[in-house]
Amino acid sequence: MKQGRLIIAANWKMNRAPEGALAEGSPYLPNKDIDVVVFATLLDLRRCIVAGIITGAQYGFPKEKGAYTGETSMQMICEEGAQYVLCGHSERRDPPHNETDEFIAEQVASALKAGIYPILCIGETEKEHDADLTFDVIDRQLKRVTLTPKVTIAYEPRWAIGSGKTPTPSEAQKIHAFIKKKGGSRTLYGGSMNGKNAKDFLKQPDIDGGLIGGASLKPKEFAMIVEAARAITGRITGYA
Ligand code: PGA
Repeated sequence: MKQGRLIIAANWKMNRAPEGALAEGSPYLPNKDIDVVVFATLLDLRRCIVAGIITGAQYGFPKEKGAYTGETSMQMICEEGAQYVLCGHSERRDPPHNETDEFIAEQVASALKAGIYPILCIGETEKEHDADLTFDVIDRQLKRVTLTPKVTIAYEPRWAIGSGKTPTPSEAQKIHAFIKKKGGSRTLYGGSMNGKNAKDFLKQPDIDGGLIGGASLKPKEFAMIVEAARAITGRITGYA
């Protein structure tokens, strides 16, 4: 069953804000029907916040302060005004970062302690998918994390990220239902979501939103995804 408001989250990765993103009427701004969140580079956070956008950081370090050259703590991200943080995005689980499940669990705990909402990213590689190991991988990735209602989980099959390939919406639904039984609150689908396929994913009963990379850099396409989510919210009776 769907939980909370749908979230449509833009992951701009290592790209500056798209043109017009901070202007009045931009699809990245909050709206009354769904939660729209933008994961910008740390250098764009303040500009986005000033423009009225709900923001998140793409990464945060799980220590409060000290001799950690180059790092930014969850506490600092919170003080800057961001409300969310991505933990364990597949691009950070991969080289050169090689983030482990243990480190990612620390990030989730540190974000909660700092008062920001973690979005924990999980998902299997293509090899694991082909070997039918998806559920085992997800189990392992969730095992070390203390899931609370403040933790959102983004299921992002690694083979679907930036590739144009996706699972079918009903395959994704099965995995989301499995994840929901493990705890956390909302579950998002991520991996090549776009203006065309968003509706089919978002209408699945256990998919509570999307985490969008490539398509989130194109304001018109992102607007289509936001509208698909708003239309679905409108159809769910009694949906708060
Ligand atoms: P994609 O990226 O939409 O470009 O596949 C999703 C993500 O990396 O969060």
